Amino acid sequence: MATVDFEVLRNAAARLQSAPISKLIADDPARAGDFALRAGALYANFARQRYDRTALDALFALAETADFPGAMQRLIDGDTVNATEGRSALHTALRGDLSPAPVAHAASAQAREARTRMAALIDALSASNVTDIVSVGIGGSDLGPRLVADALSLPGARFRVHFLSNVDGAAAQRTLAGLDPARTAAILISKTFGTQETLLNGTIVRDWLGDDGRVYAVSANVERAAKFGIAPERILPMWDWVGGRYSLWSAVGFPIALAIGMDRFEALLAGAAEMDAHALKAPPRENLAFWHALTAIWNRNAFGAATQAVLPYDERLRLLPNYLQQLVMESLGKSVRLDGAPLREQTVPVWWGGPGTDTQHSFFQALHQGTQIVPADFIGVVRNDDPYSENHQALLANLLAQTEALANGQANDDPHRAYAGNRPSTLLLLDALTPEALGQLIALYEHSVYLQSVAWGINAFDQFGVELGKQVANRLLPALRGETEADDPVTAALLAELKLRL
Ligand code: F6P
Repeated sequence: MATVDFEVLRNAAARLQSAPISKLIADDPARAGDFALRAGALYANFARQRYDRTALDALFALAETADFPGAMQRLIDGDTVNATEGRSALHTALRGDLSPAPVAHAASAQAREARTRMAALIDALSASNVTDIVSVGIGGSDLGPRLVADALSLPGARFRVHFLSNVDGAAAQRTLAGLDPARTAAILISKTFGTQETLLNGTIVRDWLGDDGRVYAVSANVERAAKFGIAPERILPMWDWVGGRYSLWSAVGFPIALAIGMDRFEALLAGAAEMDAHALKAPPRENLAFWHALTAIWNRNAFGAATQAVLPYDERLRLLPNYLQQLVMESLGKSVRLDGAPLREQTVPVWWGGPGTDTQHSFFQALHQGTQIVPADFIGVVRNDDPYSENHQALLANLLAQTEALANGQANDDPHRAYAGNRPSTLLLLDALTPEALGQLIALYEHSVYLQSVAWGINAFDQFGVELGKQVANRLLPALRGETEADDPVTAALLAELKLRL
């Protein structure tokens, strides 16, 4: 891959410094339609970004230099894109069979087989007296299932699905309160089956269920799950070729399938597969994943945006920011290139957000008048499924209003009442919040993240950064029990303070 020259982007941004978004649109009104595209059930409009056609040319030239099409092909073919761990990242094979490459094809077959087993377990649970499911997992073994189950579950669903992630005992206490062990089943989800939080919470739930309790597991480490006492026929597989944060499409989605039904889980996968085909095959200028990734790079590397907001205008997508925080920041929070050399460019900004309209009444003041410009992804759903159409119209009006107000601003002689505008956003619209559309949306973000990593020359699929904290916590646990001393003087002082008050 030829080296990407980010200086070109900075020069383009410097040229646009004196051209606010409102002027870019006034000078080129056709961009309202030309900077928009559709992929399946998704429509995206980039007209309120701070680039013009010349800057876009530079961005698409970058995509060519970085070989985005080749990178997509390598991902889907199961090449070793996770070079630091010597693995492929075949989440696309979990939801389709797009590649003739033997490794990808074989992965697809394994995923299908696992889904067949999962469907049989769901049938058996449906025929039982179980009403509640407790899903125990953390990070990638929690955030995706939690998001999708929350977004797509319908009133009157066969099972109530609860999620337990935090190692704080209060979380276990709250989750189990009001549940009946005789009518509850638990699923322990952990790729490694070595995660402290999940093992501690899993032990609480297993003991609470009692000897005849129904405990299932999803793991790549069947041996450890079996040692924990879970019957082999109740252990569904995971594989090292799927990263935790890319795994909701696998048996990690067991709680999703229980919450929304197997048919709708399959529809979610089909939607994601449609986005995979789009990201792989659509020409660059018609490729939504390319546009999204290039826009992220533009805001970060050309304008130096330190944070990025994600603002779903749909209550059912309220967990999307939490999910994306792991997907984006665990994937792209790197400061060395694949070859180990330090990066000269900034990588991921801090991703944060929350649902509109609630957040309009919390942090939007800073978005409109704060000193930092925060690019935002606004996400809306065109058709509502609730009976309150007047509310839906208000929701959509707010969505459109915010993107317009942030971009255009409003002059006022009183500086306190003036809005500078020129705050960029992308608008993503789903036709309706169907499983297919949600699958497309999540897969879009996965591919955008990967393409950003390709441009920066980093590995989107490892996460060594989370290991040190885990190691130190393991070392400090005996110190907290009073069995050892802490080496670090500040930690030692803090431990002494804790012990005084415990
Ligand atoms: O937070 C670090 C991490 O390793 C994530 O990447 C992963 O999704 C999570 O922990 C849970 O890991 P596991 O599925 O192995 O329990």
